[in-house]
Amino acid sequence: MNQPSLFYPSEETLPYKRIRDISWDFRGIPASEGIYRIHPYPAMFHFLVVRRILKEYSRKGAWVLDPFMGSGVAATEALLLGRNFVGYDLNPLAVEIARVRTTPLEVAQVEKTLAFLAEVYPEASEGYIPSVPNLTYWFAPETIRGLARLHTAIQQIPDRAMARFFWVAFSETVRETSLADAKEFKLIRRKSRPSSEVWSMFVRIVKKNVEAFHTFTIPSHPKVHLSLECANALHVLKTLPEESFDMIVTSPPYGDSRTTVAYGQFSRLSLWWLGYPEAGNLDSRLLGGHRRPLHPDLPSPVLYEALQKIADKNRKRAEEVFSFYSDLWEVIQDMAPLLKKGAFAFVLVGNRRVKGVELPTDKIVADFFEAMGYVHEATYVRRISNKRMPAQNSPSNVVGQRDTTMRYEYLVHLRRVS
Ligand SMILES: C[S@@+](CC[C@H](N)C(=O)[O-])C[C@H]1O[C@@H](n2cnc3c(N)ncnc32)[C@H](O)[C@@H]1O
Repeated sequence: MNQPSLFYPSEETLPYKRIRDISWDFRGIPASEGIYRIHPYPAMFHFLVVRRILKEYSRKGAWVLDPFMGSGVAATEALLLGRNFVGYDLNPLAVEIARVRTTPLEVAQVEKTLAFLAEVYPEASEGYIPSVPNLTYWFAPETIRGLARLHTAIQQIPDRAMARFFWVAFSETVRETSLADAKEFKLIRRKSRPSSEVWSMFVRIVKKNVEAFHTFTIPSHPKVHLSLECANALHVLKTLPEESFDMIVTSPPYGDSRTTVAYGQFSRLSLWWLGYPEAGNLDSRLLGGHRRPLHPDLPSPVLYEALQKIADKNRKRAEEVFSFYSDLWEVIQDMAPLLKKGAFAFVLVGNRRVKGVELPTDKIVADFFEAMGYVHEATYVRRISNKRMPAQNSPSNVVGQRDTTMRYEYLVHLRRVS
């Protein structure tokens, strides 16, 4: 099972029970296959990683928690495998995508609704225009008019689940027809105008998403409870009863949104159009969004070794990095007691570099959980070949300076013992 790879040092040389295990790579199978073709999202779980974890380490009817559920890959896999699921994310766009992916609809009904929209769209009012600065920097005038008409049309769909399906297609249409480069996570202007106009792009996306549902057959099993909420993991986990979950499967952000994956920037234009005016400051509300002064209370010596090296070069950067881990530690303190004793947690992270210093987030996460009564079983190192996230980040936050630490991700396997 733990086969050595040419691309990574062999198992023996890896510290902290890290195992380079190519059986977790699922090479050649894209993470955005089947139902996961509905709306892109940064740093999505590979569905086969979650499927394997759920099959091997949980039973039907188990209760699974993901406090950073993003676009709901764990939720969808839980539904497919008959596990109950509770998930949170602070990004409202992520929650909408997760809800759509876990709510299969009758194809005939979707087609009927699309026909209704086709009738309403040409005459629909152009009254809805988000009142945000820079709208015309990101959208051509005719695109703004088209999106406004589409917005008015979708508002007339009475059924909530059906309307949500079309709002998510609307969000993809916003991405594809804006002047921002849809392939980038950060907001960067495209070099040329998008080739398609709003309605034809929307129809293409709806058809793609309907097709994605074709691949989605939920086997018959007792009804599964799914709860997908927009909430801050820093607050909401405190409200849940202890020992109420049989498994945790989660992937927190890999660092603050400003210098790693910018979930807020990725979602901003869609959120404007979906009616979330506060979308502009989402990144500052996500983990690590607020700078905190350095203090020595986090239970991970390797974190402080790395922070010292960064602080020697730039103290402000060290504080920014610290703020992220400080938030993560707070969430882990609330999350750890929610799992039943003897049960497993799987936490998928990326190890990035800041100022040339590698941050071993996998080891730091293991340390944090160990301080909360868990044992670290192992960390499986998998290569990211087909996941939608930048394989290279800019450690210095300087455009053009690149780093390849994010080519691998780390699945930290933990068990609660006390
Ligand atoms: C690595 S992504 C998760 C991707 C997810 N596994 C999927 O399959 O799509 C991390 C997520 O954490 C969310 N997040 C960041 N800070 C948060 C917080 N304080 N509370 C809840 N969610 C947060 C981000 O919005 C992002 O969706």
